[in-house]
Amino acid sequence: MDGLKRQAAARALEEVRDGMKLGLGTGSTAKHFVDLLGEKVRSGMKVVGVPTSEATRAQAEACGIALTTLDEIDHLDLTIDGADEVDHALNLIKGGGGALLREKIVAAASDRMIVIADDSKWVDALGRFPLPIEVIPFGLAATRAAIAKAFAEAGVAGQMVLRTARDGHVFVTDGGHWIIDAHLGRIGDAPRLAGLLSVIPGVVEHGLFIGLAGTVVLAGAQGIRVVERR
Ligand code: 5RP
Repeated sequence: MDGLKRQAAARALEEVRDGMKLGLGTGSTAKHFVDLLGEKVRSGMKVVGVPTSEATRAQAEACGIALTTLDEIDHLDLTIDGADEVDHALNLIKGGGGALLREKIVAAASDRMIVIADDSKWVDALGRFPLPIEVIPFGLAATRAAIAKAFAEAGVAGQMVLRTARDGHVFVTDGGHWIIDAHLGRIGDAPRLAGLLSVIPGVVEHGLFIGLAGTVVLAGAQGIRVVERR
């Protein structure tokens, strides 16, 4: 699986041009991309990156990649990131690594988003992977109730689990928020659910990435498949 992730990352690297401003994703697949980009930079390529997490920032710095922020610049040419699930409309579930908020801000500020993944992430319908929903700790019970109402309106249901870290304590995102993982099974209308979740005050962001990915690079046993959004 790791070899496939690296192959997808290497294919996406072919889209990177000298001088580009890049969004750098988070997760094990994006880690390969940052690693390979670092090799290019060390052999002379000039790019500047905006990392989507503190983990990616640390890795990119160690690789010698020049970094900036979306305070200093307001738009990016290209973001390359992984995903937990990709459907045939190139809608995504992201946030398995907990970086969904920065990932979405960075993707939305980019002219183009390329998703890199092994082909196990390609699904007919989103939802088997638990949907991460980043919430403000204040008023958690009220926010959970509002989320449950949104689920009912969107025709989905499932358990909501507050994410914990390996040490058993509640998982805290880079932004200081918590994550609820919603086990929905199958999301029939992801754009509708995304809209309903987005207007809940205690929800900071959710892991449904609708209409953001333009290209998906899928690596599988049969080779690389590049899918463009229609
Ligand atoms: C992090 C993410 C990741 O892109 C997603 O979890 C995929 O990770 P991996 O490449 O390790 O499978 O959304 O918030």
